[in-house]
Amino acid sequence: MHTKLLKNTIEQLFANGKGILAMDESTPTIDKRFSANGIPQTVEMRRKYRELIATTAGLNESIGGAILYDETIRQQTKKGEPIASVLMNAGIIPGIKVDMGAKALAGFPNEKITEGLDGLRERLVDYRNMGARFAKWRAVITIGDGIPTKTCIDANAHALARYAALCQEAGLVPIVEPEVLMDGNHSLQRCYEVTEHALKSLFETLYYFHVDLQGIILKPNMVLPGKECSDKNSIDEVAAATVKCFLSAVPAAVPAIAFLSGGQSPQQASQHLNAINKDYKDRLPWIVAFSFARAIQQPCLEAWKGKDVNVETAQKLLYHRAKLSAAARRGEYKSSMEE
Ligand code: 13P
Repeated sequence: MHTKLLKNTIEQLFANGKGILAMDESTPTIDKRFSANGIPQTVEMRRKYRELIATTAGLNESIGGAILYDETIRQQTKKGEPIASVLMNAGIIPGIKVDMGAKALAGFPNEKITEGLDGLRERLVDYRNMGARFAKWRAVITIGDGIPTKTCIDANAHALARYAALCQEAGLVPIVEPEVLMDGNHSLQRCYEVTEHALKSLFETLYYFHVDLQGIILKPNMVLPGKECSDKNSIDEVAAATVKCFLSAVPAAVPAIAFLSGGQSPQQASQHLNAINKDYKDRLPWIVAFSFARAIQQPCLEAWKGKDVNVETAQKLLYHRAKLSAAARRGEYKSSMEE
């Protein structure tokens, strides 16, 4: 077991109030976001965009690690330097998304199971040789009529636990991500119940699979009402529900929780993370940080529009959003910083 190595990686990822940047969108996902911004969906445009992110000056002030996609960890900058090396040289640890996506769970309409365990041991060795020191696997839990089922929650926990054990064997820190989606009209309370169930199933399964909790990072959703829910909750209500849920379900042995943004606006994600850190600091046994994709990248992608002339502006926006996320992770975010 590589306990010391894993702990060391986690310490570096979150040192000095930093967090994680998720830039590991799969090709279909990033192409969808490119398409929405009128950007051509080609390998070269994806390469350019990831180069733009990795070469943003000062990103390392707020970002300790960046999660890459398989295509990106094999790509190079225009000058021929691997994107992973650019990040490493800036003091940002490269990580890698290793799941193969959430697929329909047979027999369970509208529910998903994440695939990618076959051959994972060998792939992890390859990624480690390319510089990755941590990994990510995302499970997707949908709230709807009669779902999620216990079968879906437990099957995804099982896959997450097998993945996490393989990562720890390979000396890579597993980011364990059971994402309860914001899609739907469910209430905050319903999200609370489902998130609590998913977390309790996950930690029981991690125990049975001999995963060392000191060597994982949990990447969960915040406890939020569904996007189409008519009741809106205040920042304080979201923070209180999220803290209560995690205190009841996440063991204190876990060193760090890094929230996903899940479709919240960048501002909302910062406000919620900030309230959790500011108002509950003394009660939280874990680091509470971020592993945002959209909440850090969105303004940058919208400004870039796929044009070289916009790179500088886009990088400034990325830098700024990363800085605000890190401020929220320290409980020091203020809305005046948005200007
Ligand atoms: P969002 O922050 O956009 O939810 O993405 C985080 C992520 O990596 C989802 O797997």
